[in-house]
This record gives sequence, C-alpha cells and structure tokens, in this order.
Amino acid sequence: MKKFNGKVLVVGATGRTGLWVLRRLQAYDIPARAFARKADKLAEFRDLEVSLGKIQNASAIRSAVKGCDAIICAIGATALFGESSPVQVDGDGIIRLVDIAKENNVKKFILISSIAVTKPLHPLNLAFGGVLSQKLRSENHLRKIYGQDGFAYTIIRPGGLKDGEPFKHQLQTGKGDTISGVIDRADVAELAVLSLWVKRVENETFEVIRSAPAEQKSLELYLEKL
Ligand SMILES: NC(=O)c1ccc[n+]([C@@H]2O[C@H](COP(=O)([O-])OP(=O)(O)OC[C@H]3O[C@@H](n4cnc5c(N)ncnc54)[C@H](OP(=O)(O)O)[C@@H]3O)[C@@H](O)[C@H]2O)c1
Repeated sequence: MKKFNGKVLVVGATGRTGLWVLRRLQAYDIPARAFARKADKLAEFRDLEVSLGKIQNASAIRSAVKGCDAIICAIGATALFGESSPVQVDGDGIIRLVDIAKENNVKKFILISSIAVTKPLHPLNLAFGGVLSQKLRSENHLRKIYGQDGFAYTIIRPGGLKDGEPFKHQLQTGKGDTISGVIDRADVAELAVLSLWVKRVENETFEVIRSAPAEQKSLELYLEKL
C-alpha cells in the first residue's frame, strides 16, 4: 500500500533540495508535479509532470496547484535583488503560494524553512537581504492559514545544507530555535516526504541537524519522537 495517496506539487523543484524531494517521492512511488522556472534541470526524471512559472506569477501558481493534494516547498532566494531575492521568494512568494494553495483546496503544505529564523541579528540575515526574517514572515502566514480545520502544515527548519547522500547520519531535532549545525539536503528532502503521512508532525514547526555518521534504515523515528 502506498504511504500517501495523492499528487504532490514540488515548488523549487530544480533546487538542490527540490531535486532530492523529487527523487524521494519517486522512491515511494508518489506522483509528483514540479513547479519550476525552466525544465532543463529536471532531465533526470522521465515522465515527470512539469508546470512552468515563477513564484511571482499567480496564474502560473494557480495552474500548478490544480489537482494537487499536497505541496512540498523547497524554494529559496538565490540573489540579493530582483525576482530571486529573499523578499520576493522567501517572503512574498511563499505567502502567495500558501494563499493560492488554500483557495484551491490543497490540504497539506510542507515548508522547508531554516534554523535561526527567529534571530534577526544572525549574520546570514544581516548579509543576505533579511532572508531569515522573510522566512519567518511566510512561516507565520502558513501557520495561520494552514492551522485551520481540514488543512495541515509542517515546517522543517534545517541547519546549514550539505550535499551528501541520504541516510548516512543520525539526526537531532529541536523546537524553539535553539540548536545549530548542518544537515544533508537529501535527509531534509526525506523528512519533507515523510511529513506527508507521519501524523506526529502535522501542524508542527521543528529544527533539524545531523549528528554522528551512522547508516540509517529510516528517518521516520526522528519525526515520531519529536
Ligand atoms: N543554504 C543553506 O545552508 C540553507 C540552510 C537552511 C535552509 N535553507 C533553505 O532551504 C531551502 C532549499 O535550499 P537549497 O540550497 O536546496 O535551494 P537552491 O538550490 O538554492 O534552490 C532554490 C530554488 O528556488 C528556485 N527559485 C528561486 N527564485 C525563484 C522564483 N522567482 N520563481 C521560481 N523558483 C525560484 C530556484 O529555481 P532555479 O533553479 O530556476 O534558479 C531553485 O529551484 C531554501 O528555502 C533555503 O533558503 C538553506
């Protein structure tokens, strides 16, 4: 039996975490649609549904969310100014996506945010366009809009992102934004996919970093014992 019945829209699908989300959905045989600015970075996926558009474009988002049961959002700013900036992507962009998803009855929203979003004086926030404050703004909006009956959210706040393989480390989770460290994008993607069906993380916000290297059979336990 499938772990999750429904189609998942992956936003920021061409990003380094987004690509891992698509791979992990594929591993569980869960149908996916990718929302992306360009399809060329998705060439490794055969028969993948792609919905092209920018996070600024409400009508492109409306087409992308149609018929989807859940969203995994791995989008993030890649420039200080313009359409890839923190304010336009991590702030306004995600807020637009949340509103349109809710209007179109997408039941579940899983957001990949960041540790330290509650720390306005963090060096990353000061150096990169207030990215952490923008992420907190969209987190707050998601909690308000998807915390309502019949809908559910999960907010994952990873530490600094690395590019290793999944299932190679033990993980440490936290609440209240007090831990710091790093984690592999592949494990963050796996946690996002698990959040589709692990009830324990419904309407939860938590931080996660990696700890000792150790082969892992599953990461589900880390969510169950949150
Ligand atoms: N880097 C870290 O150490 C760190 C730590 C904690 C949390 N995070 C957060 O974790 C998430 C994943 O990070 P990552 O490093 O894997 O991401 P990434 O590789 O930088 O990918 C960012 C994604 O966002 C997309 N994007 C940016 N602007 C867009 C726009 N205007 N419209 C549509 N798509 C747009 C990019 O599309 P294109 O491919 O078209 O550019 C790409 O798919 C992000 O939210 C990031 O802020 C990062």
